[in-house]
Amino acid sequence: MARDVYGRRRDNRHRSRSRPPSRSGVGGEGGTAGGIHPNAGAQAIVASLPVPPGATKAQVARGERVFLGQEGGGTCEGCHGSNAKGTPLAPDLTSGKWLWGDGSLAAITRTIADGVPNPKNYRSAMPPMGGAELSHADLKAVAAYVWALGHQKVH
Ligand code: HEC
Repeated sequence: MARDVYGRRRDNRHRSRSRPPSRSGVGGEGGTAGGIHPNAGAQAIVASLPVPPGATKAQVARGERVFLGQEGGGTCEGCHGSNAKGTPLAPDLTSGKWLWGDGSLAAITRTIADGVPNPKNYRSAMPPMGGAELSHADLKAVAAYVWALGHQKVH
């Protein structure tokens, strides 16, 4: 009987720990990994994104932060939107359809590096690197993130 009660308590603790937003309810157990990331929801999405051949999950995760302007001075979200689903200034990058190139990591990297001087569907150009001075590592990371957005099973 004692065993049964113990088992249930353990189960409850695991459940409440695996729910990042409910920090207040956990009380003394706060302060662990859940507290570090202000955007836990976005991190969870990154964890479920595919990883392009030749890149790493860490690059995809960093690429999201560059995209959102949290690292490396990226400006992508200003035009493409924080969810990358497009704004009146720039297209949806999550549809899996590409206006420029074949959707490969190499093609996406090139488009980001060069920008789009003559957009097909939008009035204003995308400057090279979106107008930011991305390091080579951040360019590769943000390209991996955009590739991942376009290759999700469910979008
Ligand atoms: C000033 C607005 C602006 C910024 C900032 C910007 N883009 Fe763009 N982006 C555009 C426009 C406009 C297009 C071209 C759409 C067209 O051809 O109709 C585009 C196209 C693209 C494409 C090609 C999409 C396709 O369908 O082939 C990618 C990839 C892309 N942007 C990624 C990025 C990334 C990554 C960043 C940040 C480093 C970024 N963009 C920053 C405006 C912007």
